[in-house]
Amino acid sequence: MFNNFKIGSKSCALMVETGQNREPSRDEIYHMGLATYRDLYSKSIENPEEFWEKHSEIIYWHRKWDRVLDDSKAPFYKWFVNGKTNMCYNAVDRHALGNRRNKAAYIWVAENGDEKIITYDGLYRRVNNFARALKNMGMKKGDRAIIYMPMIIESITAVLACARLGIVFSFVFAGFGSAALADRIKDSGSTMVITADGGFRNGKIIELKKIVDDALEETSTVNTVVVVKRTGSEVTMDEARDVWWHDVAKDSPEAIEPEWVDSSDPLFILYTSGTTGKPKGAVHSTGGYAVWTANTLKWAFSPDENDRWWCAADIGWITGHSYIVFAPLLLGLTSVIYEGSITFPSPGRMWEIIEKYRINMLYTSPTAIRTLMKFGEDYVRAHDLSSLKVLGSVGEPINPASWKWYYDNAGNYRCPIIDTYWQTETGGFMLAPALGIGLPPLKPGSATFPLPGVDPVVLDENGKEVADGTKGYIAYRKPWPGMFMTLNKDPERYVKAYFEKFPGMYNCGDYAIRDSEGYFWILGRADEVLNVSGHRLGTIEIENAVIASGGVAESAVFGRPDPVKGEAIVAFAVLRNGNESSGEAVARIRKDIRKQMGPIYVPDEIHIVGSLPKTRSGKIMRRVIKAVALNQLPGDISTLENSASVDEIRDAIDSFMKESS
Ligand code: WT7
Repeated sequence: MFNNFKIGSKSCALMVETGQNREPSRDEIYHMGLATYRDLYSKSIENPEEFWEKHSEIIYWHRKWDRVLDDSKAPFYKWFVNGKTNMCYNAVDRHALGNRRNKAAYIWVAENGDEKIITYDGLYRRVNNFARALKNMGMKKGDRAIIYMPMIIESITAVLACARLGIVFSFVFAGFGSAALADRIKDSGSTMVITADGGFRNGKIIELKKIVDDALEETSTVNTVVVVKRTGSEVTMDEARDVWWHDVAKDSPEAIEPEWVDSSDPLFILYTSGTTGKPKGAVHSTGGYAVWTANTLKWAFSPDENDRWWCAADIGWITGHSYIVFAPLLLGLTSVIYEGSITFPSPGRMWEIIEKYRINMLYTSPTAIRTLMKFGEDYVRAHDLSSLKVLGSVGEPINPASWKWYYDNAGNYRCPIIDTYWQTETGGFMLAPALGIGLPPLKPGSATFPLPGVDPVVLDENGKEVADGTKGYIAYRKPWPGMFMTLNKDPERYVKAYFEKFPGMYNCGDYAIRDSEGYFWILGRADEVLNVSGHRLGTIEIENAVIASGGVAESAVFGRPDPVKGEAIVAFAVLRNGNESSGEAVARIRKDIRKQMGPIYVPDEIHIVGSLPKTRSGKIMRRVIKAVALNQLPGDISTLENSASVDEIRDAIDSFMKESS
């Protein structure tokens, strides 16, 4: 257990509480930490009404809610029933029109080193200008808009302006390709796309507007495209459809009244992968989500008024929605945000930014940590990281070796690591050491305990609780305010995918173990979903993409453990045309997936084979392929129809290994 760091404010609290004029011992601090945590946690579970009554006050309610929770239509829960509020008002106006007017909301750092400091007042003006533009273009409450943008201030402005007017936005990560974007435009029924000419990453330009143009060839609902000029790349503007941001978002002193929406009115839709080929549009609420994100950031990280917070994710993922945009603004914090790649132009970029901007709290992913770890300690040591107080991790299980490296090198043995376990669907952290309540002794690789209001269990296949120390499925027995409300246009799938396996409970889709001291250890996905660099990708989605690239008859995709990315994508494909060379086919498939789906979907290995192992009924045996390819025993293959295909897979892997060594 790691417990040798200093927890300034906690030790002061103990001194006050015990009346003793001495520094408490670490055991005392921990004893107090766990005891305070357990006390608040049990209150949240035993008396949720009272608990949420108090904690819902973290935001402003234009009309106070009548009831904390309506579960009469479970699992379609409603939080803070009949409450009226507005996310943008809470995130921006409260500070801009109050004491934080001159405080920096964001310090934006460009990949080329440019910087911009946006105060709360500056953000307020920008948001009002863009909200006015949206209004002038006829956008109103309940309309849907896609935001497909790089990491620039206008992305945040766009999100907040939509929230101000009750426009349901769906942010699509700028690394997605045109087919992935088109799917999301169609499913969300968006009438507007907000984008940029391009974005910078690794010193290169990603031409976003061109990708939007391609996507719009496939869709019919969009009538307006707003384009931010960021890179200056040449773009084609369709006069009837496309407008420049700088032409529509004009400065004006006129403020736009926030739309006071119902607590259960949707704030945004965010798509995530599932076990079918079709991504799921998680619909998040306004009131419950705001209360959850603000409280969870406070509980887990305990930021102080003058801290600088850096969540090094992209706004396009839930991590960015919740902990770059909403929670930090709701708490009135100052965030540093960075446009580009953390290893560009040098592997020391992340450390350089921490030193230059005296960052106090860094929140990043195990993949990022493992990438930086590969470059060695010298890059870290070259920088003064003494401003750091707390480190965070998200997206994948953090292996103890990376945890230790992060703790020793980035944190210099002083900073607790807050390993946050959560999902797109949960809106905010679910399991995490709660520094803001009472920090438990940390165990590298465990996200420790549930946050208040979260009621996890570990179950066997039949929904029976397993003994501590035994692997099972992690599920939640109670709803929580930040949970998504449904899947867009697919309430049946919402019920089926999340609430059917264990009736009355939310099934996370992960395996976990609870140890004898009650610590949770997440072991990874229990379904056909890969976790590549902390991003969720469905195997079937990738198989479809391989097939859609043309010339492929069938495909099987699975994840291979990867020391940096967590999992790497391995694809097997059977070609339709026996005459195409494997080399050509692989290059073509790669190129097509990159364009259609985006770089993160491109398999790390593509093997062309003559046939795939199948059952007699014709089902591709992905499990057998994976086992053979990873050189494990394939298990029961008695139902296998064509055993020669197994040999072929073995041969394909063998020759791949020879080529790459
Ligand atoms: C899946 C959710 C949460 C924002 C980023 C990913 C895995 C996430 C952890 C963690 C172990 C983790 C799970 C989860 N995961 N955080 N701290 N420890 N596993 O969001 O794309 O919705 O993916 O990521 O498998 O189900 P997402």
